[in-house]
Amino acid sequence: MSKMRVKDRDFVEFISAEEMKKVVSRLSDEVKRDFQGRNPLFLVILNGAFVFAADFLRLWGSSVEVQFIRYKSYEGMCSSGKITPIMPIGEEVAGRDVIILEDIVDTGNTMCELLRVVNEYHPNSVSLVSLFSKPEVLNNKLKIDYLGKELPNKFIVGFGLDYDGHGRNLPAVYVVED
Ligand code: IMP
Ligand code: MG
Repeated sequence: MSKMRVKDRDFVEFISAEEMKKVVSRLSDEVKRDFQGRNPLFLVILNGAFVFAADFLRLWGSSVEVQFIRYKSYEGMCSSGKITPIMPIGEEVAGRDVIILEDIVDTGNTMCELLRVVNEYHPNSVSLVSLFSKPEVLNNKLKIDYLGKELPNKFIVGFGLDYDGHGRNLPAVYVVED
């Protein structure tokens, strides 16, 4: 198992770059099948989803519109679901079939709040695509329409996910060594 030092912690490889490629390609096939002949608007949640979105969207095969949004969630103080807009969304989602691309749904608080904000702009539909989820800690009835992989409740980095700003560029996913 390959090891990786990220900032001040040791991590071990958990999902290889090859497997990540398969996960993204399967997700892309599923979503494409359901949205054939439609004109969705993709909403990429920064920062974490940038790697996933870059791979996913290049597999789409035809021209689509992509919007980036960034909200800051109050972490540290036990994820309350309160979020502040940094790059907000607006009227552009009105009447559209919105597909959200997210890296990971943990407690689900951030996504719940984000969905509430998106729905305020009256999209025609909203679908959620998440690369990962941690079902053990999900504390609400959030429905992930397309899910890459369920993970145990352990801290991971790589493929867009960070540890204190570090490690987003790693092509594989690493789990913290306990
Ligand atoms: P939630 O509101 O608890 O669902 O938090 C979701 C956010 O927490 C994600 O968008 C990530 O930014 C971050 N997060 C959750 N789990 C991990 C992890 O294992 N590694 C890195 N970031 C994580
Ligand atoms: Mg995120």
